[in-house]
Amino acid sequence: MDWGMENRLSQLIQADGHCFFLPIDHGYFQGPTSCLEKPGETIKPLLPYCDALFVTRGVLRAAVDPAGSKPIILRVSGGASVLGKDLANESLTTSIEEILRLNAAAVGISIFVGTDYERESLMNLAEIVNQCEDFGIPVMAVTAVGKELEKRDARYLALCSRIAAELGARVVKTYWCKNFDKVVAGCPVPVVMAGGPKCETEKEVFDFVYDGMQNGAIGLNLGRNVWQNPYPVAMMKALHAIIHEDLTAREAWELFNDVKAEKIKKAKIKKGKKG
Ligand code: 5RP
Repeated sequence: MDWGMENRLSQLIQADGHCFFLPIDHGYFQGPTSCLEKPGETIKPLLPYCDALFVTRGVLRAAVDPAGSKPIILRVSGGASVLGKDLANESLTTSIEEILRLNAAAVGISIFVGTDYERESLMNLAEIVNQCEDFGIPVMAVTAVGKELEKRDARYLALCSRIAAELGARVVKTYWCKNFDKVVAGCPVPVVMAGGPKCETEKEVFDFVYDGMQNGAIGLNLGRNVWQNPYPVAMMKALHAIIHEDLTAREAWELFNDVKAEKIKKAKIKKGKKG
């Protein structure tokens, strides 16, 4: 592997072989997603606990401080919205010159296997791999399901992940599912877990993240279940501890509750002082 590619991958995947990416790219098809209306403010307290940010060029320029920034995974596909006919109808949005200008550590692009736009999205992936490999930039493929969340089973996700790797993705981001080991076993490149809509309890999140890590995922790319939680820093700390400190789901949940309790206590003291 060339030095540039290896260097960029090592910015994303830490020395323990694991990674925790923070995605804030949702606006590219959802508009001002709840709790992400002002992305710069949302991420400020969360940045110390993530290894990289997944973001579009627009929000990167508008809301991320270039000085001392975390490594950037640039979202480079788009062109559909939640109001349109089909979320799968995406194209490449960002040129290789722009990717270089923004000093991206990697790029991310969605593929929509089994949809009317399967071929287009797979050819988008192949095209961006062709462009990025020339410059040592890793491509992360996102196995997207649009609104069809029920598609997320091991057979389907294994198929998507393998196709993404075959087309040259250096990392695959896919949903956690039961029998996640089967997804990982069929994919010759590292697999990172995506999040999905907000779970009902924090414990559910810690359970699936822990299970995925035990079954071969190298890490996590989790957005809404972090920044839509009323205690996002507690979520970040607890998830970071599963990914990088080998905490179990139960231990992470206890850590979450400790950090949350501390935050509540501090808020009460502050309120008392004001009153
Ligand atoms: C959107 C994405 C997001 O990065 C991905 O869905 C992760 O965010 P969340 O945990 O909120 O699902 O790729 O297409």
